[in-house]
Amino acid sequence: MNPPDALPDLVSSARSIFQMAATPAELENAKAQFLGKSGRITELMKGMSTLSVDDKKTQGAAINLAKQAIEAALADRRQALANAELERQLKAEALDVSLPGRRRGQGSLHAVSLTLERIEAIFGSIGFDVAQGPEIETDWFNFTALNTPEDHPARSMHDTFYVEGGTEAAPNLLRTHTSPMQIRYAVQHVKKHQSLIDAGHRMPEIRVIAPGRTYRVDSDATHSPMFHQCEGLWVGENVSFKDLKYVFTDFCRTFFETHDLVLRFRPSFFPFTEPSAEIDIQFQSGPLAGRWLEVAGSGQVHPNVIRNMGLDPEHYIGFAFGMGPDRLTMLRYGVNDLRLFFDGDIRFLSQFQS
Ligand code: PHE
Repeated sequence: MNPPDALPDLVSSARSIFQMAATPAELENAKAQFLGKSGRITELMKGMSTLSVDDKKTQGAAINLAKQAIEAALADRRQALANAELERQLKAEALDVSLPGRRRGQGSLHAVSLTLERIEAIFGSIGFDVAQGPEIETDWFNFTALNTPEDHPARSMHDTFYVEGGTEAAPNLLRTHTSPMQIRYAVQHVKKHQSLIDAGHRMPEIRVIAPGRTYRVDSDATHSPMFHQCEGLWVGENVSFKDLKYVFTDFCRTFFETHDLVLRFRPSFFPFTEPSAEIDIQFQSGPLAGRWLEVAGSGQVHPNVIRNMGLDPEHYIGFAFGMGPDRLTMLRYGVNDLRLFFDGDIRFLSQFQS
């Protein structure tokens, strides 16, 4: 075949071979087949040496056109491959700027912690100290010192988690209430003021609350094996049940921010108080209006307990109460399942702000 006649085929075969090259390296190899030292175009150029001057002109021009067409096809394919590579890179390194940044979560206090803070602030404002005590206790502080000797039937209502031991050095149970803090705090207080007392002077009154975690074998919508209590104790020479009523009523009204609230002191029994009363509250308006809700146990401190504090029950008298901050939190925020507080679901917990 006359070389010039084959030129259009040559151009189109170059185009399709370039098209098939999937990488720049493949494309450079394909280029050599046409434009390289022994490529097809180069061969055609060499073949022209035997032609006449006229033929040289016409064929030379045709070959040049074909060469330019092949070079243009090569340049197109190079560009296409470069574009594809850029596209691939952009995809691989894609950065979604619409995604919200990662921030450190803003923490908030637990609902029960907010309640404990409120309780501490309210009692602090009327001169109560705040004391913390151990959650792992001894029989003595949790029961015996509180007029609840071994084999006392009241112990069975306070089933808890026991381990080996039983001495101060090796406490053996998870406290079932915060009442052991009555003894611990009072003993320290008495020790501190012993010389005053011995000299016949007046001992500064014991006025303390002791919030903290307590434990019992109990678990349902209103009981958790771990729960909170806040003990209150006021002992002096002339502290009466009237003071308990006044202090606790005032506390409830301040805590719930309403005077539309009445209290009921319902006779009850605790080994460490005599007389004893369960404290119920009743809201006069709002969603809970009309229902009696138990919020605390209370009573006048039993003479045996006063004695275990290191004081003479003929001279010292007082009251104690133990309330349930978990319950108070449920009432304040309208939460109906205690377990929500301890499940750790951030969607629930983050709803409580001071
Ligand atoms: N400790 C008692 C309880 O857990 C409550 C209480 C405290 C009662 C102080 C009287 C005085 O049930």
